[in-house]
Amino acid sequence: MSNIAEKLRLPAAFRPEGQSLQGRQILITGASRGLGREIARQCAAAGAQTVLLARSVPALESLADEILTAGHPEPVLVPCNLEAATLEHYEEIATLLGDRFGHLDGLVVNAAMLGELSPIAASDPALWARVFQVNLHSPYLLVRSCLPLLRRASDARVLFVSSSVARQGRAYWGAYAASKAALENLMQVLADELAAEGIVRVNSVNPGRCRTEMRAQAYPAEDADRLPSPESLAPGLLYLLGEAASGLHGRQFDLQ
Ligand SMILES: NC(=O)c1ccc[n+]([C@@H]2O[C@H](COP(=O)([O-])OP(=O)(O)OC[C@H]3O[C@@H](n4cnc5c(N)ncnc54)[C@H](OP(=O)(O)O)[C@@H]3O)[C@@H](O)[C@H]2O)c1
Repeated sequence: MSNIAEKLRLPAAFRPEGQSLQGRQILITGASRGLGREIARQCAAAGAQTVLLARSVPALESLADEILTAGHPEPVLVPCNLEAATLEHYEEIATLLGDRFGHLDGLVVNAAMLGELSPIAASDPALWARVFQVNLHSPYLLVRSCLPLLRRASDARVLFVSSSVARQGRAYWGAYAASKAALENLMQVLADELAAEGIVRVNSVNPGRCRTEMRAQAYPAEDADRLPSPESLAPGLLYLLGEAASGLHGRQFDLQ
């Protein structure tokens, strides 16, 4: 396993719409907006049975409508607040998916919160804890609960959506940077533990700057029209969920 981030190079012929995720059950967290919503939309368009997790029920329902109207498999909606959910909630989600599908082919750990941009000396300890709950503890609990389902698949994937500040800390990015750095380490620990089995492939992906609400929160004065869209970045994640990427494990990818 490498410890160095590398640019994900998609084959020239790769087209997300040509990717087949037919019959694959894929859970995407943070599917209500931004990058997660687009990953979910493109997974469904590639034939996947999507499981959509976020807090906003109206936003999940509108995405499900969009997916259904386009003639793709009906998504399963999992309204869930990752800040408040306990181990029991994650176990319930895993039980629900196990009863419904028997296994899980993909888990995209995408939901996250920025918290605040602040020097450590002035940072809010309560907000620090909330950011760690959403960005690190909830992924740990969700992955832990879903592992039996992932192991029941023939070729499963876990993708942790990361950030450039996870790989090199930067002033004022506080809890967000530290929690994402720990998420990278969680990915490596899990990848190492699962390497010998060869069933669940685990990687991290840094999408880089992207036109979403989180980016606007971090850079309110920026011209968002100049940023890469979620539509342009989601194909990298689709590639990693597909058959062609089955040999990639324990790697840290940059999409830009
Ligand atoms: N945008 C960028 O420039 C950029 C750069 C590097 C990395 N990233 C990473 O890319 C991923 C997606 O970010 P984004 O820019 O798309 O962010 P975003 O637009 O803010 O979307 C965040 C998603 O996470 C969900 N979420 C947040 N808190 C939650 C909670 N407590 N419980 C359940 N769901 C919650 C939100 O849904 P609800 O509000 O409906 O719950 C939403 O669907 C994140 O991991 C982020 O760190 C983004």
